[in-house]
Amino acid sequence: MCGIVGYIGHREAYPIIIEGLKRLEYRGYDSAGIALFDGTDLKVSKTKGKVAELENRIKKEITSNGSLGIGHTRWATHGVPNDVNAHPHYSNSGDLVIIHNGIIENYASLREELQKRGYTFKSETDTEVLINLIEDVKIKEDVKLGQAVQIALNQVVGAYSIAVFDKNKPDEIVIARLGSPLAIGIGEDEFFIASDASPFIEYTKNAIYLEDEEMAIIRLNKEVKIRKIHDDSLVDPYVQELQMNLEQIEKGGYDHFMLKEIYEQPSAIRDTYRGRLKANQGIIKMSGVEDNMKKFLNANRIIVVACGTSWHAGLVSEYIFEDLARIPVEVEYASEFRYRNPVIHENDVVIAISQSGETADTLAAIKLAKSKGAFVFGVCNVVGSSIARETDAGAYTHAGPEIGVASTKAFTTQITVLTLIALRLARAKGTISSSDFRLHLLELEMIPDKVQKALDSDAYVKTIADIYKNVKNFLYLGRGYNFPVALEGALKLKEISYIHAEGYPAAEMKHGPIALIDDDMPIVVIATKKGHYDKIVSNIQEIKSRNGRIIGIVTKGDKTVKELADHVIEVPETIESLTPLLTTIPLQLLSYHIAVMLGKNVDQPRNLAKSVTVE
Ligand code: AGP
Repeated sequence: MCGIVGYIGHREAYPIIIEGLKRLEYRGYDSAGIALFDGTDLKVSKTKGKVAELENRIKKEITSNGSLGIGHTRWATHGVPNDVNAHPHYSNSGDLVIIHNGIIENYASLREELQKRGYTFKSETDTEVLINLIEDVKIKEDVKLGQAVQIALNQVVGAYSIAVFDKNKPDEIVIARLGSPLAIGIGEDEFFIASDASPFIEYTKNAIYLEDEEMAIIRLNKEVKIRKIHDDSLVDPYVQELQMNLEQIEKGGYDHFMLKEIYEQPSAIRDTYRGRLKANQGIIKMSGVEDNMKKFLNANRIIVVACGTSWHAGLVSEYIFEDLARIPVEVEYASEFRYRNPVIHENDVVIAISQSGETADTLAAIKLAKSKGAFVFGVCNVVGSSIARETDAGAYTHAGPEIGVASTKAFTTQITVLTLIALRLARAKGTISSSDFRLHLLELEMIPDKVQKALDSDAYVKTIADIYKNVKNFLYLGRGYNFPVALEGALKLKEISYIHAEGYPAAEMKHGPIALIDDDMPIVVIATKKGHYDKIVSNIQEIKSRNGRIIGIVTKGDKTVKELADHVIEVPETIESLTPLLTTIPLQLLSYHIAVMLGKNVDQPRNLAKSVTVE
């Protein structure tokens, strides 16, 4: 996610803002910038790269001891990381300046409108459109900055937290929030703004957290006034005294980044389908797919190349693409694919999945496929990453930075993107009825709320973790769409608790693994109501008769498995193809709690790197 910092008060703004940006580096970013008002003029300095590079640049570009400024670390969503796309962005007049965290979905149409009115744009960002929309409103309606921001935001669709100021009125900063966090630090004759309290916690513990759809005009020596953006109604500001320390703030109050990212999945999935899924209108819109529709429809097969958790997401996509779009799919470990001299045809479509966008094996597999004439489509989480740049087209998962080495929100947002693509192709090929198509879209739109409900079982999952934290081996079983989830659940446990675990198709038990079963071997069985339910119940009975201890992941209200298993963890009901988005949640929580109870380094497990950029 982007990071926002601002200051207005009696101190020099620059040192506070630059240190504040350093405090927000943990959020992940690709560029940084600062706007300062030095008492007479507005100065902006920004650069691709780290805050340290910004510091060096500012030393050469700006000499300012002004007391008003805003700063930004950018996590690119629109426009690759470079100096021009970095924030802050000026309006055309050069009077207004903005920093923004979020995504403006309708920026293209707004940009077209503004261009007709003579506005020009230097960057590819949605943010530069927003600041010029604000300027256009301010001039046309002849209103103050605060009102112009309010009117402009009522024309915007998307998510944002913004800070704006006018160099001609350097005694105020206007801020607003919808979907991305924004806090106000209340000091003595000074105000701080930031994405979280880490940049100002050493100056003040009194903070106001804006709620969604709220905005504030922060003026020196004035009370903070908070208003609702849509109807201008006043909101009573709730000033809270912060108890968190710096480290806790960076983790959003969670003990580990991994837990924070597990809990971010509802919003990460929503951000991933935002602007792409219009369920009520029965529309899926993904420019990377639309622009290459012929290649997808003419493909004899789809080859998925990935590693680790991304490979598991690819395996889920095999079921989705074949089941819904009737396109043959082969899922390959990138590390194997790149060396086994694979047969690749020109009309093959290769989908490369990677959270980091830097995995060496996946990058090599892409280059091999391209060298043989295949069209390569990337599903990445990092804008402008090597894989994003190497692929012919792609679709980003808007999961935000994933800091924990164990992938969690990357997995569910990858499946979200792949499901959108499969549904869009199924619609184009006519392999899905319009009613079924709409059902899938409406259900997908409800998934974030259902993931939240699955997260509500966290405390119960923790009690199960306590029972099994000292076992030496686990088995994870699933069928159909949930077979890849069994593999993913086993990987999660292995990589953060160092307990050996294996995932298997449930029916495979009788071909050998059932010999392993005894009462020291807990078996996690994904047994949701949709898809081969009766078969999985008989697998559970086979295990039961051999004294295996069973943890069932079941559909809410299930009674049958409840009778047989030692523990059942419920997830909400959904359609079969979307069950992986829910069944993976308790498995993430189970591995997290076991690892914590064993005192493991959950966010940086031994021997592992977040991005495997070497073979
Ligand atoms: C999963 O929890 C691991 N961090 C690892 O398997 C990871 O999924 C794999 O290295 C692929 O990384 P990528 O998605 O960044 O390409």
